Amino acid sequence: MSYQVALSFEDGVTRFIECDPDQTVADASYRQRINIPLDCRDGACGTCKAFCESGDYDGGTYIDDALTDDEAASGYVLPCSMTPKSDLVLQIATTSEVAKTQAGEFTATITALDRLSPTTVALTIDTPQRADLAFLPGQYVNIAVPGTDETRSYSFSNGPDEKSLTFLMKLSPGGVMSDYLTDRAAVGDELTFTGPHGSFFLRETDRPVLLLAGGTGLAPILSILRTMVATGSRRPVHLVYGVSTDDDVVELDTIAKLATELPQLTWDYVVSDPASTAPNTGYVMSPIRDEHLHGGDVAVYLCGPPPMVEAVRTHFAERGIEPTGIYYEKFALAAAPGTEADSAAEPEDAPQPDTPSEDTVDTMQETAFGAVSPASRDRQQLLELTSVAAGEGRELAGQPMFAATTAAPVGPGAARDGNNSRVQRDYGALGSTRAGVDEVDTLRSVAGQGIWPAGTGTTRALDAGEDLVPAGAARAIAGQEMLTENTGIRPLGGPAPAPAKHESEPQSEPNAVQPNQGAAAGVTATPDGYEIGEQHPSIYKSDAVFDARQALELGAVEITIGRLSSQQLAGFRLLAEATVPYVDGDRFVDAAAYTEANAAFHDYLFTLTGNEHLLHAYRALGVKGHMDETLREATWCDPRCTQDHLDIVSAFEAGDRKAARALVAEHAERSKATTRRAMKEAREATRPAFVSPGRFAGKVVVVTGSAQGIGERAARRIGAEGGALVLADRSDLVQGVADDVTSEGGRARAVLADLETYEGAQAVIDEALEVFGRIDVLINNVGGAMWFKPYTEFTADQIQAEINRSLMTTLWSCRAALPALVRQGSGTIVNVSSVATRGIHRIPYSAAKGGINAITESLAMEYAGSGIRVVATAPGGTDAPPRRIPRGGDAPQTEQEKAWFQAHIDQTVESSLMKRYGTLDEQAAVIAFLASDEAAYVTGTVVPVGGGDQG
Ligand code: FES
Repeated sequence: MSYQVALSFEDGVTRFIECDPDQTVADASYRQRINIPLDCRDGACGTCKAFCESGDYDGGTYIDDALTDDEAASGYVLPCSMTPKSDLVLQIATTSEVAKTQAGEFTATITALDRLSPTTVALTIDTPQRADLAFLPGQYVNIAVPGTDETRSYSFSNGPDEKSLTFLMKLSPGGVMSDYLTDRAAVGDELTFTGPHGSFFLRETDRPVLLLAGGTGLAPILSILRTMVATGSRRPVHLVYGVSTDDDVVELDTIAKLATELPQLTWDYVVSDPASTAPNTGYVMSPIRDEHLHGGDVAVYLCGPPPMVEAVRTHFAERGIEPTGIYYEKFALAAAPGTEADSAAEPEDAPQPDTPSEDTVDTMQETAFGAVSPASRDRQQLLELTSVAAGEGRELAGQPMFAATTAAPVGPGAARDGNNSRVQRDYGALGSTRAGVDEVDTLRSVAGQGIWPAGTGTTRALDAGEDLVPAGAARAIAGQEMLTENTGIRPLGGPAPAPAKHESEPQSEPNAVQPNQGAAAGVTATPDGYEIGEQHPSIYKSDAVFDARQALELGAVEITIGRLSSQQLAGFRLLAEATVPYVDGDRFVDAAAYTEANAAFHDYLFTLTGNEHLLHAYRALGVKGHMDETLREATWCDPRCTQDHLDIVSAFEAGDRKAARALVAEHAERSKATTRRAMKEAREATRPAFVSPGRFAGKVVVVTGSAQGIGERAARRIGAEGGALVLADRSDLVQGVADDVTSEGGRARAVLADLETYEGAQAVIDEALEVFGRIDVLINNVGGAMWFKPYTEFTADQIQAEINRSLMTTLWSCRAALPALVRQGSGTIVNVSSVATRGIHRIPYSAAKGGINAITESLAMEYAGSGIRVVATAPGGTDAPPRRIPRGGDAPQTEQEKAWFQAHIDQTVESSLMKRYGTLDEQAAVIAFLASDEAAYVTGTVVPVGGGDQG
């Protein structure tokens, strides 16, 4: 049970946090990313002193210098020492602004303004606050457009260590920044900007790099290249720079110079306009050749408009290329309406989204593939891209977008001119156009539109800090697969099963990518018009989740080290220390609590960057969800993990960048080792202890309630013995069981169904017949007591619910399956009853299981003549891992309820002659035997499996 603590700040803002009774308010606050004032964290300095307006608390231990008796008597408290005994209201002596780290605000002066081409300007600015501006190569800032209320986002093209800040800006007629640059801007003008922003930045590994830049998306790519030069990087790197027309080509000399400074750099540039005089015409992905992909062991950095990004991804998918990492940045068109871009004057000649002319279409196609600048966020460009989306189709986010086109393969004779060749090639042209795409649907799905709740019907502005990804039914964002599409497991006919809320489900991480997906992506769409994401192959089948976290953390280290206040360092140390109690040596004391504390520690580093995008990117990796799942039953932890947290903070306190970086990398390795071992042990724990190979060869076996517990173990055993399985459950965890069986060489089909309805039961049987053509065995395992208390405490609804769960499910399934078994003239039904037919504190369940016994004996009599056996086991108390699917009833809360629950356990053990619970394997063994032909002469029998408890 936790209490709610209201933190009332001086500026009138109130924030609420949850605080456990044994947790200090400061600890809870930092875990929930609210930086209340803090220094010693130990009741010694008084920095955190607050006034408690209401509530009961334990003030904790502190010295008089920190809080005098008089102050304590008049309601002052030390959040670093106090623990709540009720809900609290605290007055915090600072503003909410201070408590929440913000991106920096800077003023600067224009020092150079260069028209690089008819369409592109290079802007150079200097800021007196340069020392306070740390950024990563690839990040951007929001620049206020002088003389307007507008801001526009631009990526740095300079390296992080260069004094002057440079940007590439695309000129668009009617764009507010474009108007400023062409009409009013002059050297000496003052600008203001905020930043840095964005999680698109160079990750530091030794992996080869492929850089793809569209239009002024070249800016962040130049920043990356300049950083590689500055750091003496030896990574193989290839750059492809694509634009629409010759007018858009800029910075070739800069790239050529970088290539002399970075000998391993090769590059191409392409112009999509067929009339171009450039050496190469085509699209940005066209010149990518096998040697640039290093067999997939390559990090791809992709910056450009959504169609370009999607075209590249499609190109890779079609060629079966799965780069180790794809990091991209593109427009989030969704952000345009209602944001600053929306209010920009719409140019009269801007193409209209819903009425693309043929001319417009051609223009848009070219623009989309080659030349729209992601660094120039003017309204016209957004409209241009929107026009593409609405008008022409290839495919973007599942919506037809462009006319189908096939890039001509690069012929074997395609020559190269040394490392930096620019050989004339024809990369193919767009094919025929196609119209008729529904505008609204298309717009909703383009580049992040799917992140909004479905059915809003209109676009809207995004709020800063809003969780973007989880909304609605969005499974794909701009074509980036986020959640596993349930192609293999859908609710079957009848009422949809009530969603089983997994106890282990990461509730606080809606962005989390889900396990069992082939590709994982973290996507951040931002109010300032960027969509940033990354994609890794099979993230949950590898260590990629921790590799990705490490890469982001190294970026966060660069931004924060040496720049944290003593208060921030104190908070960081508090969170590091909070992880310590949950590990003892190499054993988890409490793996779940460790996962929570660990997540708060890692979250905080990203919070300290003041960069919500980095935090989003980290959360989108789903590290916590992954750890929740994999460490659920873990006992082993690398013994250095918690010390790493403390040492990382020490490195920050010392401003030791090198040590911090080394520790972050080492910690990632230890995290991998911990989860790898937990996954291995969990997998081994689910393997059946006994197997009779081939016993179910050729048999089709339906197992209900097979996502966990006895049903799961029986299913795994029968799968290992050659049975073809249909695994039915209300929880999609059953898909994981089916996947495991299949990965071990078995055959299994997972189905979601509500077996408390006849329709659900019938749908499972129909599915089994459709997939396998017959049913040899039906194991009715679904059921389970929901409440544990004296019968007089049950409500009528609860009694009915117990009967529905533990009796009706078997009645419905038998009714649904018997016609097919009768037609076959053979079949076996194994019901799972319980020794609880004689037990306390679950009378409705006992009655239901008594009914199962009656069904078993009576059906056996009725259908023996049809060649059908009906048998049952009656399990006693059985040890099982913690439930992943809640019972459905209320967990015992009060002492009385806990006592009632314990009484039924005591009675169960006492009724057993062996005075212990059984194991899942002991239960599965009898079910499998009764289901097999070995029990061919057994029918109408209920076999107690309760250590001597006959039920
Ligand atoms: S008394 Fe020092 S932080 Fe609370």
